[in-house]
Amino acid sequence: MNAAAETLLLRVNEQFRAAHGGDAALVVQAPGRVNLIGEHTDYNDGYVLPCAIGYRTLVAARPRADTLVRVAAADFGGAVDTFDLADHPQPRAAAPWADYVRGMAWAMREAGHALRGADLAIAGDVPQGAGLSSSASLQVAVGQAFKSLQGLDALDPTALAKLAQKAENDFVGCHCGIMDQLISARGVSGHALLIDCRSLAASPVPLPRDVAVLIVESRIRRGLVDSEYNRRREQCEAAARHYGVAALRDLDLAALEAGAAGLAATTLRRARHVVTENARTLAAAQALAAGDLAQVGRLMAASHASMRDDFEITLPAIDHLVEILATAIGGAGGARMTGGGFGGCVVALLPEERVDAARQAVATQYRSPAGEPARVHGCRAGAGAGVVVA
Ligand code: GLA
Repeated sequence: MNAAAETLLLRVNEQFRAAHGGDAALVVQAPGRVNLIGEHTDYNDGYVLPCAIGYRTLVAARPRADTLVRVAAADFGGAVDTFDLADHPQPRAAAPWADYVRGMAWAMREAGHALRGADLAIAGDVPQGAGLSSSASLQVAVGQAFKSLQGLDALDPTALAKLAQKAENDFVGCHCGIMDQLISARGVSGHALLIDCRSLAASPVPLPRDVAVLIVESRIRRGLVDSEYNRRREQCEAAARHYGVAALRDLDLAALEAGAAGLAATTLRRARHVVTENARTLAAAQALAAGDLAQVGRLMAASHASMRDDFEITLPAIDHLVEILATAIGGAGGARMTGGGFGGCVVALLPEERVDAARQAVATQYRSPAGEPARVHGCRAGAGAGVVVA
């Protein structure tokens, strides 16, 4: 275990003792994620290529004899939320972190799992509001805690991810796709996962050893996310209806162009992003597996341009950050905005020997609109959710 993981384990155990007295029965973890390519394709039944990262949420847990769930959150000053599984838990808008826990318990019960009460403590180091899926990692970690406490072996990682998505969609109210939860539950160390979001089949794609993954926080907190996200989703669904297909995944570029008459220009551009992004994602997985980093870089550049021009989810400062990185990487890899958009992070894939130059370029040339420097994280693809201490 590295130093950061040990610190996090100490914090979650301390929080558990402070809130509940005595020791937890077990500690579980679920990671955040970074998506290498395949943006806004998951809810169109398409392809994504994320990897799990070394930042995670830990949950320390102990069963209770009653039906209460008492949760203490180390990252929110030790705030405690208590709810009764015997009631229908209600969202508490004042404490969004608690809604991810309540929502996960609700989704598991809705699916027929007879949950018992538990004392929980939570601590995480996934940067919040940065587009690295801290909320999906929290939901999956809470689900993993209930699963491990109660031996719910039938609940495989894919089922857990689907319940976490249901919690987000139907309890928290964000109409996200399945990518974040699925990679948090199923990540493979040293690999990205090519996920088919229709069948949920996932193929691990090894990340070459001498290739670095950099996550660069723009320091622009994601704004407008829910409204713009949901609007993009509606536009994609409208386009699919226009073409008479179940989802945009079912179109290629030729079919898109052939049937475009009568479709609003903006909707057509949204659909074109999804159709071309699916093709780029499949091509990038192949190129990565073949160790062709230059080709992956070209596809990442095209993905960013498509998000900027067709899907319109980037911001000028983010476009600038991508240009700084692309120039420093110089064709030996690539960079693009990652995640839902309107702020958040840029991801770069590059040969190890170019990392210092890329960091230097970002440090000297980039400031957020509020004047802040970017934060750069070197990242290794990690494993999905599981038990840390039993
Ligand atoms: C957010 C959502 C995901 C996905 C991405 C965009 O992270 O939670 O389901 O749609 O945006 O690719």
